Amino acid sequence: MVDYLDDKFSSPDPWNYLTSEFEQLKYRRQAEVIVDRLPHPERILEIGSAEGVQTVTLMDRFKEARVTCIDISGQAMATARKRLLPWADRVTLLEGDIAICAKYLKEGYDVCIWSEAVYYLGAQVSLKRTYQVMGQVVSRIKPGGLLISANTVDLPLDIPEAEITAKPLVECYYTLFSSLASPASRSVYIDEKAGRIYEYQVWAFIR
Ligand SMILES: C[S@@+](CC[C@H](N)C(=O)[O-])C[C@H]1O[C@@H](n2cnc3c(N)ncnc32)[C@H](O)[C@@H]1O
Repeated sequence: MVDYLDDKFSSPDPWNYLTSEFEQLKYRRQAEVIVDRLPHPERILEIGSAEGVQTVTLMDRFKEARVTCIDISGQAMATARKRLLPWADRVTLLEGDIAICAKYLKEGYDVCIWSEAVYYLGAQVSLKRTYQVMGQVVSRIKPGGLLISANTVDLPLDIPEAEITAKPLVECYYTLFSSLASPASRSVYIDEKAGRIYEYQVWAFIR
């Protein structure tokens, strides 16, 4: 999987995060959930932060926040490192596999954002291990803190992630999170990106 991801990131912005209104809207929707419930987070954990595009939106929106970013792809991290230089005093970048590094994370995050990356973990390790890692991540969030997870559902069959975003699997991740933290909101969006229609969901849980 890491080879697939590094290969993907060998061309910059492989999913058009920078330019796509669909992706920017998805970031805003996640940020709005935070603003509604915890408007002044001081510490944010971002899992699967890729090239740091969503991180920039967090830096702009939450001026007092420090963000710890984790991503398994060295290629993505190299781009993120350059992009996030202007915020170097507020951003920590960790290159690693969340399945391995979750247990070493510090505690006390106000917010964890795990956007479009949970289903990759589910494709890399067993369901039992996925659940354990989710539990480790949730335990690093402060009591009363927020976990936000955005997940696309049923990507079209010609996209490599089609199988790993199948609705029953995504439902399963929701159920697992729900047993680890209290469900607070679940919004379903159907939007267009480059002429195709996609469904994604934004989940919020309270630790
Ligand atoms: C589809 S991108 C999502 C990027 C960003 N979170 C967003 O929503 O725009 C998924 C990211 O998760 C990362 N990823 C996949 N599996 C991971 C793992 N086990 N640990 C850490 N990062 C992982 C990938 O390298 C990739 O950058």
